[in-house]
Amino acid sequence: DDEADLVGRPPVVTIMGHVDHGKTTLLDYIRKSRVAEGEFGGITQHIGAYQVEVNGKKITFLDTPGHEAFTAMRARGAQLTDIVIIVVAADDGVMPQTKEAVDHALAAGVPIVVAINKIDKEGADPERIKGEMSELGLMPEEWGGDTVYCNISAKKGIGIQELLETLTVVAELADLKANPKRYAYGSVVEGRLDKGRGPVATLLVQNGTLRAGDPIVVGTAFGRVRQMLGDHGKELKEAGPSTPVEITGLNDVPVAGDKFMAFETEKMARHVGEERQKAKQEQDRGVSSAMSLDDLFN
Ligand code: GTP
Ligand code: NA
Ligand code: MG
Repeated sequence: DDEADLVGRPPVVTIMGHVDHGKTTLLDYIRKSRVAEGEFGGITQHIGAYQVEVNGKKITFLDTPGHEAFTAMRARGAQLTDIVIIVVAADDGVMPQTKEAVDHALAAGVPIVVAINKIDKEGADPERIKGEMSELGLMPEEWGGDTVYCNISAKKGIGIQELLETLTVVAELADLKANPKRYAYGSVVEGRLDKGRGPVATLLVQNGTLRAGDPIVVGTAFGRVRQMLGDHGKELKEAGPSTPVEITGLNDVPVAGDKFMAFETEKMARHVGEERQKAKQEQDRGVSSAMSLDDLFN
């Protein structure tokens, strides 16, 4: 990338933590919507992705499910992310998926903010949580460490403004840049088959600008961006770095964590898509291919 083309981009923030510690409720409160109540069984089945504005600055949020079956998704979530919020319920404490989330975030080397949630509940003990988290290496600033803690109630909306402002400060220090002039690339947050619309993919544009009509390879699927919707369901013509979008126009359903890349011509997209499909089939058969899947994107 030409240094001169780099501009600031919004931080991508992933919310992680143990099952039922309040990740989706937190994201909902921030969006002022109510996804948690409508979810089947109250478990997040997919990663949600949304963008909000705090004091005129955008922040992109990704939700991750706490269920143990979703370890791979959390590992990918940590890699997509600029900042990780670890949510810990103040009445419960550090649990297996809390530890796992901390491990993913530390491995990804990204700044961690700890949100001690459910402080409205009887039996909430934020000091005990700080002690348990310190044992995982996340010593609070006020104890001489370097991890920022926020006491919140996602349900009642306590402490959320402070948490959001903390995120903008951490993001500023990270000085995140991207080049909106290049062809877009990024990652799949979610893929599904819609009866009427065909394969639908939620993408996070990590760099470049994605445009309606762009030839694109997503995982091993390819096509053209037929329709592109923003997180509020509005049709978009283009989407810059750190923007989550939903697209149609692919020949197959990609899976969370797949990479995508836009191309200049449909011919190139088709060629790369077919090569990646071949490489994937060989990989699945245990044949080591001359080229890895990711080589085909470089
Ligand atoms: P998974 O996606 O299943 O891992 O759960 P989650 O971490 O997204 O938790 P979720 O937001 O679904 O919340 C679990 C339960 O805790 C729900 O019944 C919420 O209403 C409740 N809850 C979340 N935050 C708070 C809070 O701050 N205070 C209280 N009292 N309850 C909360
Ligand atoms: Na839940
Ligand atoms: Mg959830």
